[in-house]
Amino acid sequence: MKSRYLIFLMPLIVVLTYWMWSGEEKISYNRQIRPIINNKCISCHGGVKQSGGFSLLFEEEAKMNTESGKPAIIPGDAGASEMVKRLTHHDPEMRMPLGKAPLSTEEIDLIKEWINQGANWEKHWAYIAPKKEIEVPEVSMDVPAQNEIDHFIFKKLEEIELRPNEEAPKELLLRRLSLDITGLPPTLEAYEEFISDTSPMAYEKTVDKLLASPRFGEKWAAFWMDLARYSDSKGYEKDLHREIWKYRDWLINAFNQDMPFDQFTIAQLAGDLLPKPTESDLLATAFHRNTMANDEGGTNDEEFRVAAVMERVGTTYEVWQSTTMACVQCHSHPYDPIRHVEFYQSQAFFNNTQDKDLYNEQPKVFTYQAEDKQKVKELLSWVNDKLKPSEKLPKISDEFLHQQKEDLLYNLGYRKVEAEEFQDKSRFIELVAHDQESIWQVQDSSWIMFENVDLDQVTAISLGYASIYGAQLEIRLDSMLGEIIGKGNFGITDKNFPGNKPKDWETLKVPIKPVSGKRDVFYYFKKDKTFAQDLIRLDWVFYHEKSPSIDKYPQSIQAKLVELSNAKPVQTPILKDLPKSNSRKTYVFERGDWRSKGEEVKAGIPEIMGTLSSQEPNRLDFAKWLVSGENTLTSRVFVNRIWEQLFGYGIVESMEDFGSQSIPASHPELLDWLAVNFQDEMKWSMKTLIKKILMSQSYRQSSTTDEQKMKKDPYNKYLSRGSRTRLPAETIRDQALAISGLLNEKQLGPSVMPYQPENIISFNGKFWFPSEGEEKYRRAVYTYWKRTHPYPSFVTFDSPSREICTSRRIRTNTPLQSLVLLNDPVYIEAAEAWAQRILKESAGDIKRGIEKNLQLVTAKKPESEKVEVLHKLYLESLAYYEGEGKDLDENAQLAAMRIVSNAMLNLDEFVTRR
Ligand code: HEC
Ligand code: HEC
Repeated sequence: MKSRYLIFLMPLIVVLTYWMWSGEEKISYNRQIRPIINNKCISCHGGVKQSGGFSLLFEEEAKMNTESGKPAIIPGDAGASEMVKRLTHHDPEMRMPLGKAPLSTEEIDLIKEWINQGANWEKHWAYIAPKKEIEVPEVSMDVPAQNEIDHFIFKKLEEIELRPNEEAPKELLLRRLSLDITGLPPTLEAYEEFISDTSPMAYEKTVDKLLASPRFGEKWAAFWMDLARYSDSKGYEKDLHREIWKYRDWLINAFNQDMPFDQFTIAQLAGDLLPKPTESDLLATAFHRNTMANDEGGTNDEEFRVAAVMERVGTTYEVWQSTTMACVQCHSHPYDPIRHVEFYQSQAFFNNTQDKDLYNEQPKVFTYQAEDKQKVKELLSWVNDKLKPSEKLPKISDEFLHQQKEDLLYNLGYRKVEAEEFQDKSRFIELVAHDQESIWQVQDSSWIMFENVDLDQVTAISLGYASIYGAQLEIRLDSMLGEIIGKGNFGITDKNFPGNKPKDWETLKVPIKPVSGKRDVFYYFKKDKTFAQDLIRLDWVFYHEKSPSIDKYPQSIQAKLVELSNAKPVQTPILKDLPKSNSRKTYVFERGDWRSKGEEVKAGIPEIMGTLSSQEPNRLDFAKWLVSGENTLTSRVFVNRIWEQLFGYGIVESMEDFGSQSIPASHPELLDWLAVNFQDEMKWSMKTLIKKILMSQSYRQSSTTDEQKMKKDPYNKYLSRGSRTRLPAETIRDQALAISGLLNEKQLGPSVMPYQPENIISFNGKFWFPSEGEEKYRRAVYTYWKRTHPYPSFVTFDSPSREICTSRRIRTNTPLQSLVLLNDPVYIEAAEAWAQRILKESAGDIKRGIEKNLQLVTAKKPESEKVEVLHKLYLESLAYYEGEGKDLDENAQLAAMRIVSNAMLNLDEFVTRR
């Protein structure tokens, strides 16, 4: 009997022991081996250096012959593997890691075991697609889970033996929601409404209402603007003005309309290549025209064009892949399996755009502000109706009004061109300072070029100019040394134009030889007799046709046409590819130096990330791949960014790097679950994703903590409590304006210049012209952004300079922040306006007024102790202004209350999201 059982059991036991042994001992490359290699070996055996011909970056390299002629890793045989011998070598010159402390016995044993088991290699998790069916863990927590997110969070808490917190008090929840969704605090009425709504749907209703607010886009555009390195100036030393605010408005609208993230991606990276791009698609591509541009005279345009293109590659990979591609510019990636050549394969997608560091930022899209748009459309339609059929436009449509206007004027032979719209230029051509609306500093033998000008009917060309010394002009065809078709002399118009702008513009009219067809026209400027630093300033060019049909129309129509030609469009730099015939070749740059070209490369993505189906992929194919199901990173990376916005830290804390040196995810399965759902279930809807997170119990927890939580989860990585963070710079400003009642709710439009210290000047003189009236109370997102002089109170609260893409702001707490809140005129004005309101509302009961208003900062009804202290501050200040300080301020009550409201804007509750 017994033996019979044994016979049956024997095979089972053997199988079981084997299974248990191999199951338990199976070494994970990613979890156990990679960290050792990354920390101890990769700097000498990776992408940059392959000492001894041995590299551990790619499996095939690790297992191939080294300089010694045989592989250092022999799978299955640790004893024979050089890699193991070197770890315990008696000669310190041979023992690895060279010149560093030896590995621990456990580490060496792990490596031995790993090789004995076959040296099994694994891809880094980020390059493996998340599983489609991720099981949501069961939890037995007595706190109810609201959705799947809580299951993942609570499971982890169970593991570390912590409990989530209770739900935060309603008032705090409302403030948290309001600040997170709209970037603005709730009003007193909103608190009342939320508290009195006791229905189970109250929370969700509020979330929906806030998500639908047009304020949502203004809040959420800001973090993307850090990634897009949005700025109203071009950067580098001169850091001149750049007109690109329409891109910011595009972003705000995209967030408000909940544009799906796949469309959002494609529009920004390749909107220009869509089959029929709209104005909006083109504006979106300004994303990559936020690169810096160098306006210094005499710099090499190609050098800075290339720098911008390389920057676009690095930024694209950082924003969508959290991959440090910029490290692959000069050598293969030191830690991640990306080869040097692969940087340039990616560069080929971006290397074919027309822009080339020209001052005028061509190519651009010309659009109108809402109010002008209507006017231009009416004028155009009015004129168009009166024209002969042969000169008419078939119909006037809303899109591309500027182009229609140009076409119409062209049909009529009214051909005025702004001088700064040239397509190419020589050195020493610059644009006049802040507005950059005319050309200056035209030194001897310099030129500008206009492409493809139709000269068929043209008999003369006029130029609007000003000059101190006089100069000569030659108009040439097709090249700078081409045939001269006209010559003229610029006279002296002004002896000393001060600063940058001449007083008067003169006209020089130059008759030209008859030329047929479309040609490139070069304007070649030469000095006159005297030596001249500064030849002329040029404002516009006009092509005179033999018999322009505009002359045949009555004066009334002609006047409208001139009005039309004067309507000023908004110019936005965009991406636009060169025609195929002119496309650029892309080469590897040896050691990243654009002057030493290596092999030519074709466009493609890094091998580790997959392959593209198209034979000759372009930028659009690349953008589509990013948001295709095949990409393993895009969705994870974006979900992580949203998570960070709502919890203060990403699931992967290193927002900018998901590579092998990244900080391990706190909840890897949750990250994958969210990523898969965002892509498949939510169809890339950003608002749906945000709502999902806001609805979770994990988000709703109170942010209080205790000793045990501080010990086991000091940074709240596991969300054992609600998140509590210092508010971002923009929200702090907006909150002060909102609470005080100063906030101007106007949306969109050119950037504004609120107060900042006077006499801030840059390399090019004064650039800050404080906005008048209500404009200075616009939301922070509209503040003019100058890279070399970022707005001081934002910098103090950790905003970046936006010279480069910034994935996360590192939060600091410094006394300077308090000084800003106490002294910056923006906060003083806010305090004053708020004080006035408190006095008006509660003149009879100051203490009650303080109590009521303090809730705007604290959310919860304030404790009486705090009110007591503030009231005392009021009384003491009042006594001071009525007595000793009588001569300082005309209104003692207001001055005293201002001190109180100023103090309230300085409370910890004010700067903290709790
Ligand atoms: C500071 C640089 C440095 C570090 C760190 C380093 N090595 Fe090396 N390693 C070298 C150099 C230089 C050589 C070539 C000279 C030689 O063979 O001793 C080499 C050679 C080797 C070889 C011999 C290759 C062959 O077959 O010829 C192996 C194997 C090796 N290293 C493994 C490792 C491992 C494993 C680590 C990490 C635990 C490591 N090294 C860390 C510098 C380094
Ligand atoms: C502008 C060019 C350039 C860029 C961009 C660049 N590197 Fe390097 N890096 C170099 C050069 C040059 C060396 C020296 C190579 C050599 O010794 O052969 C080097 C060496 C290294 C080394 C080896 C250091 C050693 O121990 O000798 C590491 C590691 C490294 N780089 C990491 C990085 C990382 C990470 C990034 C991205 C954040 C980066 N590099 C970006 C040019 C660059």
